[in-house]
Amino acid sequence: MQNQINKLSLEDKIKLINKHKIPRHVAIIMDGNGRWAKEKGYPRIFGHQEGAKRVEDILKIAKRVGISYISFFSFSTENWNRPKEEVEFLFTLMANYLEDKKNMLLKNKIRFKAIGRIYELPSFLQKKIKEVEEETKDFKDLTAVFCINYGGRQEILDAVNKIAYDIRNNILEDKYICENVLKKYLYLPELPDVDLLIRTSGEKRISNFLLWFIPYAELYFTKKYWPDFKEEDFIDAILDFQNRQRRFGGI
Ligand code: IPE
Ligand code: IPE
Ligand code: MG
Repeated sequence: MQNQINKLSLEDKIKLINKHKIPRHVAIIMDGNGRWAKEKGYPRIFGHQEGAKRVEDILKIAKRVGISYISFFSFSTENWNRPKEEVEFLFTLMANYLEDKKNMLLKNKIRFKAIGRIYELPSFLQKKIKEVEEETKDFKDLTAVFCINYGGRQEILDAVNKIAYDIRNNILEDKYICENVLKKYLYLPELPDVDLLIRTSGEKRISNFLLWFIPYAELYFTKKYWPDFKEEDFIDAILDFQNRQRRFGGI
């Protein structure tokens, strides 16, 4: 069955999608840029450059199949451990990307949001983020969430500290904190749980991504490096997801 699907064209694969079982939130750990470049004899930053190019096609196909939220892991709180040059390159790449793709987002009516410890990013990048968020804020169908300087554990910690602050300042009553209250203090409270989590590059781990949102996410791992991940591969992941039996602890 899988072999037969693999032979289909993109359009034919899209036809196989069950429109009543579209994942609402797809999250992607875009991994393998460095190895992709190294294997071709290029410096790691070439991989980041090439990887950035894949995002546009995935956004367009996500919009087309009717996904509501797509999140991309762009820079983790642990990625500061990389050489300074690589970190700086990534921030410049992201700012240029937003500048270049603003019109594409507007044309395709895609809302852009960035989450993470944004205030720690260089000001040129913060400025671009604010600008593109503002200009795309009214689009409703698809929200593209870029997780930049993002850590799942940090997000929960930041929420807990904001809750403590609000309790001290009598903004929040000191009572039992239920899930709904905690969720309101996360970076983007409207973000629904992840239905499908895709990780490229063959690694099978979460790397501190969206911890609060993945309790029942369906996990999809592919050996392809992110720069090789095409629309067809995205549709393969959706089709695989649609064949899963989700139980959420029930029977
Ligand atoms: C993912 O690719 C992009 C970022 C983490 C910014 P990597 O840079 O982690 O690529 P590998 O895993 O070293 O191949
Ligand atoms: C996760 O990839 C972070 C991003 C894709 C931005 P990493 O390459 O940083 O993860 P580890 O270190 O292999 O777990
Ligand atoms: Mg990696």
